[in-house]
Amino acid sequence: MANAYHEVKSVSDLANEPAEYREAIAKIVVSHTVNELYGAQVFDEPAIALAPTPYAKWLSCRIAMEEYHHHVRFKGLADELGIAPAATDPSAKRPLSIFGFPLKTWAEFCVIKMLADLAEILQVEDLLHCSFVPLRNIGRMTMPEEKFHAAFGKDFCSELCKTEEGRREVQKAIDDYAPYLPKFFGAAGSKNNEMYRKYGLKERTNEAMRDDFLARARAVVEALGLRLPELEAVPA
Ligand SMILES: [Fe+2]
Ligand SMILES: [Fe+2]
Repeated sequence: MANAYHEVKSVSDLANEPAEYREAIAKIVVSHTVNELYGAQVFDEPAIALAPTPYAKWLSCRIAMEEYHHHVRFKGLADELGIAPAATDPSAKRPLSIFGFPLKTWAEFCVIKMLADLAEILQVEDLLHCSFVPLRNIGRMTMPEEKFHAAFGKDFCSELCKTEEGRREVQKAIDDYAPYLPKFFGAAGSKNNEMYRKYGLKERTNEAMRDDFLARARAVVEALGLRLPELEAVPA
């Protein structure tokens, strides 16, 4: 679906846009800057210690490096936009629900990469076509890495599922983690989302993105011969 809003090519061109457009950009950039850092701190870096083999550790290091790099990219844009450093400091902000999960096992990390990074892929999909070109460019650099993270999660889950015990562990991690996911897409009927769509910064409503995610997540989980639990709807 093409965006109706015109392209805004650079940070300096923002001076010609309405204040509401600049606010919308700032909110999206702050959200990605904080969440990429928070995710790297609570999941990706600790996962290096949980990884069971040198090979798994190496790939976990790569993922942690890439997630910190995603933060650095978004933070660079936040700085160019003149956003105050405190606004992108995760210690000063309430973390998103998906990061509230207390990671303890390797299987949980693999499930988080398989499902939460798929959720991130959907968010980045909308950035790829958004009206603000600097954000679109970050989306294009980030997407192949998010796809690698989700594929890593799926491959390691599939490896674990080769034993009965591993299969049970992965299913339990899915059952425990999946309830954290629906909120990641925000409330139904969100005013911010309406503003993002008006300015061509997002294509889909929160509800549409969540439904699309749940269908894709279910397909991934069922391909492993496992099940995604029924999840409660998110209140408006
Ligand atoms: Fe990321
Ligand atoms: Fe990722």
